[in-house]
Amino acid sequence: MIIRKAKKEDLKTIADLEKIIFDKSNFPMSIRNLQYHLKVNNMIAVAEIDNTIAGYCVVFLRKKYARIYSIATNPYFRGKKVASTLLEHILSQTCGLNYISLEVRKDNIPAIALYEKYGFKTVKEIPCYYGDGCSALKMKKALHKL
Ligand SMILES: CC(C)(COP(=O)(O)OP(=O)(O)OC[C@H]1O[C@@H](n2cnc3c(N)ncnc32)[C@H](O)[C@@H]1OP(=O)(O)O)[C@@H](O)C(=O)NCCC(=O)NCCS
Repeated sequence: MIIRKAKKEDLKTIADLEKIIFDKSNFPMSIRNLQYHLKVNNMIAVAEIDNTIAGYCVVFLRKKYARIYSIATNPYFRGKKVASTLLEHILSQTCGLNYISLEVRKDNIPAIALYEKYGFKTVKEIPCYYGDGCSALKMKKALHKL
């Protein structure tokens, strides 16, 4: 598995995966959203296995913190540590930041388990965050400042 920065040519595949993985109530990113994130230098990384995009992440990197906007594994490659490898890559890019945060559906047991495994803690619940009325958990991990 290799982790690399997404290229313009990857965005259609990522947008197609977003549509398959996230229904409308979970705000899937369109190709135009992805183009914007690439343009403004937000982090879009892909995990590639045998020349196939097995997973990807979109992360906003700010001066003092990072926010994971999306992380997902192609259903065919689940359970093979793709998301773990992406998350480790994200964490390796956070040198000097104070914390990293994200929102996750309260009913998304696999994702919550993934984040907890990497030391994220729930800091608050945000009612009716998603289009279907599901709450979000805001999770945060403190980072060591060098
Ligand atoms: C959540 C998701 C990203 C995990 O991807 P993955 O590549 O299969 O995950 P990994 O193989 O790296 O597993 C890492 C950890 O995640 C958790 N996990 C993954 N799948 C799980 C499942 N089905 N049930 C419970 N925990 C699970 C476990 O803690 C696992 O660690 P372990 O193998 O040591 O138990 C994947 O299920 C996915 O793409 N879901 C849809 C998109 C999504 O919900 N993204 C999160 C949005 S906030």
